[in-house]
Amino acid sequence: MPFYVCQGNVPPKRHIQHRSPEGALYHEENISREGFSDVYSNLYHLRPPTRIAAVGKFSGLELKAAEDRIHRHRHLETFNYPAGGNFVSGRRAIAFNSDVALYVARPNEPADFFYRNGMFDEVIFVHRGEGTLTSYFGKLPFGPGDYIVVPRGILFKLELTGEDNRLLIIESAGPVETPNHYRNEYGQLLEHAPFCERDFRTPEFTEPVDQEGKFRWLLRTADGLQEYFFAQHPFDVVGWDGYYYPWIFNIRDFMPITGKIHLPPPIHQTFQAPGYVICSFCPRLFDYHEQAIPAPYNHHNVDSDEVLYYVEGDFMSRTGVSEGSITIHPYGLAHGPQPGKYEGSIGKKATDEYAVMIDTFKPLIIAQDALLVDDPGYPLSWLEK
Ligand SMILES: [Fe+2]
Repeated sequence: MPFYVCQGNVPPKRHIQHRSPEGALYHEENISREGFSDVYSNLYHLRPPTRIAAVGKFSGLELKAAEDRIHRHRHLETFNYPAGGNFVSGRRAIAFNSDVALYVARPNEPADFFYRNGMFDEVIFVHRGEGTLTSYFGKLPFGPGDYIVVPRGILFKLELTGEDNRLLIIESAGPVETPNHYRNEYGQLLEHAPFCERDFRTPEFTEPVDQEGKFRWLLRTADGLQEYFFAQHPFDVVGWDGYYYPWIFNIRDFMPITGKIHLPPPIHQTFQAPGYVICSFCPRLFDYHEQAIPAPYNHHNVDSDEVLYYVEGDFMSRTGVSEGSITIHPYGLAHGPQPGKYEGSIGKKATDEYAVMIDTFKPLIIAQDALLVDDPGYPLSWLEK
């Protein structure tokens, strides 16, 4: 999505004969959004990407709403989940609506399959861990602080090499993009945007794998996982070009916008998607008005549920949260700094926090799994002790 990329061996025109040195025809695949009317890439395979060798099992996936339907502020201590599963099977649903589903995962098993999310775009925020995401576009090495954006329909393999993996995973019903208001009419990021094209990492091209056999992959459908087997290694691409590919932006490359008085969360916006936004809170200098109050004012965003995932640093407006904590501040209630944090922020010069915020424009449903790490005292945490 961010910009045009061309790698490997592509012919001078689309949809014309493209042959190997031995004269064999390569097989073009077009992967596109909105039918044929939006962004796309064209890939050139050694063999047709349609060669399914076997259709395997289907296993259902259901997002379960919490039986506790009480409407209240939430604090979820997600580091308390035990490690388990791989980056797909190890997902713990936190909250969801028709636009977005939020998960955390602590995978400690290898994912020995290829994966394609056919229904949702994915953003995998790597809190801890490192590894490589490989697709037919090439390799994307990743590490802490990376937002890995994988548009739907892209087949990939994710290898984690670290010991302690902590992922925040967003499944998005619509495409995840840089905000429109950061871009000019040509799509280029504007001078005042908090990041630019140089900050995006795109796949490093890898040579095609020429191998026949039986290659297992999982397709995320609307309500489950369908197992398939390809008759050849799927990463058999000699070249590709276009705007559609997986890419990475690291939270440390977000250059915060600061002001004389407190600026609201839209200045932290990093991505847009239908029905929600993703924002990055990063170390920054505080407001410089002589009477500024750096901590946020109490606020009541009537059309928004606000989810904050705490990454690292000293969280300036909250007490009792730690790395991996998620707070959910739903519609219908105001929230703000906890006792002492408002006054206590006066005179402070800077903050060193990292956090990821997801603000949804439709109410979120709390998932049943979230109750396992729920802090029941949080709704009353604004009372003075
Ligand atoms: Fe807030």
